[in-house]
Amino acid sequence: MSEENVLISTRSLTKRFGSKEVLRGIDCDIKMGEKVAIIGPSGSGKSTFLRCLNLLEVPSGGTVTVNGELLFGSDMVEKGDSLAAIKKQLHDLISGEYSEEVRTHREEAEGVKEDIRRAKEELGDIKTSIKLLALKEKRSRGTAAKKPGESGTSESKDTDGSISSRLEAARAAYTAKKADIASLSQKLAGINAKIKQKKAEARGAADREEIARLTLAKREAAQEFHKAKRGHAAAMKRTNAAIDEHRRNMGMVFQHFNLFNNLTVMENIMLAPVALGVKDMNKKRGELLKRKLRGEDVSEELAALPSRLEIEENAKTRAKRLLKRVGLEDKADVYPSTLSGGQKQRIAIVRALAMNPRIMLFDEPTSALDPEMVGEVLEVIRELAEEGMTMVIVTHEIGFAREVATRVLFIDEGVIKEDAPPKELFGNPRDSRLKEFLSKVL
Ligand SMILES: Nc1ncnc2c1ncn2[C@@H]1O[C@H](COP(=O)(O)OP(=O)(O)OP(=O)(O)O)[C@@H](O)[C@H]1O
Ligand SMILES: [Mg+2]
Repeated sequence: MSEENVLISTRSLTKRFGSKEVLRGIDCDIKMGEKVAIIGPSGSGKSTFLRCLNLLEVPSGGTVTVNGELLFGSDMVEKGDSLAAIKKQLHDLISGEYSEEVRTHREEAEGVKEDIRRAKEELGDIKTSIKLLALKEKRSRGTAAKKPGESGTSESKDTDGSISSRLEAARAAYTAKKADIASLSQKLAGINAKIKQKKAEARGAADREEIARLTLAKREAAQEFHKAKRGHAAAMKRTNAAIDEHRRNMGMVFQHFNLFNNLTVMENIMLAPVALGVKDMNKKRGELLKRKLRGEDVSEELAALPSRLEIEENAKTRAKRLLKRVGLEDKADVYPSTLSGGQKQRIAIVRALAMNPRIMLFDEPTSALDPEMVGEVLEVIRELAEEGMTMVIVTHEIGFAREVATRVLFIDEGVIKEDAPPKELFGNPRDSRLKEFLSKVL
């Protein structure tokens, strides 16, 4: 198939949530008229992929192209990683930080630091005991002075003597501990000096050419990274500008309908088309008024602009037609809460279709439904498929995928493990994880 038939394509698409890599490089082209079913285990990234296609989720890297226009493109994450890798290599090489000798010395230094820490703790204890003993000594001297010749004098003298000697011992211990700490600190300084020397030696011994090569590589990688970063910012800006247009072309249907319960069925369906219609009309009017200011005659064009009322009428007519198509024309004025799950989902599909999208994305549209309602929703989707609508559908309905899809993707752990027509993928699965998956769901 020729390139212009490709509606959406992704290259090396990645998505991370924090350190969790959910999509790990997805290359996928979706061509006009294709019905792509996506299957795969829970948590494999199917919904995330769909959301990235719709840019409800901002990818971390790779590209998304829609109708040949690059809508998102950034390899910022990959470029950042490769810059970091070169930086580390260079650092290891010229710092000597990771040479065997430096490492041994570092360990030694850590041991000495620990000894110093412990010695300081002990010093603190000794200091406290000196204070206590000094206080006791003072108190016992006072007692001895007040009550001379009384019984207990000898005892207090004894105590006094033992306190004094203990105090003396504590003071000696304090001096010794201080000396210990001083010599440990000296030892640490010696080790640090050795580390410094070893690092300098390693630097001296490092291959000059290798350093030059890595320095150059680092500069280039940094340039690439900054370019990607600028590209990312530009892409995001563009994405914001193009997002209405893009979303307009994509209808999205979720597992849980997401209808507004405080609006009637008709209001739910008309909401987006009217909002966008009015926005378009205002934009056009603005452009025309600008031209008028420049002296152009735009009166005819201004008169041809639809009024809000006309926009609403058009949206309503279209909504009625779509409702009829899914057999729910009598539900226009009711609130969603009065509908069954299957009916709600059919309304959600109509709501998406009301935007006249070029492609429909379905994320497990039947998995929240009671079994007896699955059929009526699948029927609507099947009809859309038969009419030629391009669609991507994440589904656990293997039978449906086999029957309706022109292509099936098996996504596992953030990558497309298999991509083939249903007959081939289900009839002759090659990937071992796919075989395992199918054995569970079939
Ligand atoms: N916004 C988010 N923040 C953090 N992690 C997320 C976010 N969205 C998805 N994830 C994680 O990404 C992984 C893939 O999620 P995703 O919803 O794409 O899987 P899935 O294939 O659709 O699974 P299921 O079949 O259960 O719907 C999961 O581990 C999920 O927890
Ligand atoms: Mg999902």
